[in-house]
Amino acid sequence: MRCGLALAICVALFNPPSFAQSPPTPLIAKEAIRSGSGFTSPALRAQQKDDDLNPGMLWVDQGREIFSRDCSGCHTKPEGLAARLPKLASDGSVVTLEHQINRCQSERVKQPAYATESQPLLGLAAFLAFASRGMSHAVAPDVTQSAAWQRAQSEFTRVQGKLDFNCRSCHDYLYGKRVRNQAISQGHGVGYPAYRVEWQTLGSLNRRLRACFFGMETKVPEASDPILADLELYLAWRAQGLPIEAPAVRR
Ligand code: HEC
Ligand code: HEC
Repeated sequence: MRCGLALAICVALFNPPSFAQSPPTPLIAKEAIRSGSGFTSPALRAQQKDDDLNPGMLWVDQGREIFSRDCSGCHTKPEGLAARLPKLASDGSVVTLEHQINRCQSERVKQPAYATESQPLLGLAAFLAFASRGMSHAVAPDVTQSAAWQRAQSEFTRVQGKLDFNCRSCHDYLYGKRVRNQAISQGHGVGYPAYRVEWQTLGSLNRRLRACFFGMETKVPEASDPILADLELYLAWRAQGLPIEAPAVRR
C-alpha cells in the first residue's frame, strides 16, 4: 500500500496537473462578459435595435448592392462570411474582414482595392457583419500559441502614453465606471463597423482602436500597422461567445 502511495506521488510529480499547461483565458469571466451596448445610453441602444432608426443600415444597404453585383457570383450566401474573420494567414499575419474584402476585390473581382474607411469598403464590411449578426467570431483553439496573439497580448498589457495606461486599465478594470465623462465598456469589437455619433459616420474597428491609442495620449499607429490587425484577433479571442451585433450605434 505504501508503495502504491509513493507511486501516486511520483506520477503526480512527473505529470503536473493540467492547469500548469492550460492556455491563458480572458480576464473577464464568461458569466460577466457584456458587449458595448450594455454600457451605452438607452437612447442609443434603442436606435441600434431598430433597423429603421439605425443609421448604420444605410451602409448595410449600400454593401448589399455591391455584394450582389461583384461578389455573389462566388459567394452565394453572405451569412457567416464575416464570422470567419479575423483569421491567421499562413505567413502568421492576421487577415481582418476589411483585408479579406480587399483581397477578393483585387484578386478575384480584379478591381483596384478600396481605400481605408471608404464608403464602399465600409458598406461591404457592414453588410457582411450584419449578415453574421447573432453569430460569434470563430476563434481557433490554439490561437494563443500564435505569434500574432502574443504580440497583441503584449500590446494590450503594455503601459504607455502620458497617462501610464494600457488597454487593460480601462477595459478590464474600469468598465462600468466613467472616464472623462464617458462610460467605459469592456472593449469588445463585436459591434463594428459601428456608427459613432462623434464621427457622424460609420467607422471600422481599426479606426476605433486608433481612437483608443489617441485617448491614451500615446503614438497612434497608422491604419495599416499590423499591430492593429493583431489586436483585432486578440479582441475576438477575448470576446469569445459574444454575438456579432454590427452595425452598432455608439457615442
Ligand atoms: C483611457 C481609457 C481607455 C484606454 C486605455 C483604452 N480605451 Fe478603448 N475605449 C475607451 C472609451 C472611452 C471607449 C468608448 C466607450 C466604450 O465602449 O468603452 C472605448 C472603446 C473601445 C472599443 C469599442 C467598444 C464598443 O463596444 O464600442 C474597443 C474594441 C476598445 N476600446 C479597445 C481598446 C484597446 C485594444 C485598447 C488598447 C490599445 C484600448 N481600448 C484602450 C477608453 C479606453
Ligand atoms: C472569383 C470568386 C470570388 C469572388 C468574385 C469573391 N470572392 Fe470572396 N472568396 C473567394 C474564395 C475562394 C475565398 C476563400 C479563400 C480565401 O480565403 O481567400 C473567399 C473568401 C472570402 C471571405 C472570407 C470567408 C472565409 O471563409 O474566410 C470573405 C469575407 C469574402 N471572400 C468576401 C468577398 C467580397 C466582399 C467579395 C466582393 C467584393 C468577394 N469575396 C468576391 C472567392 C471569391
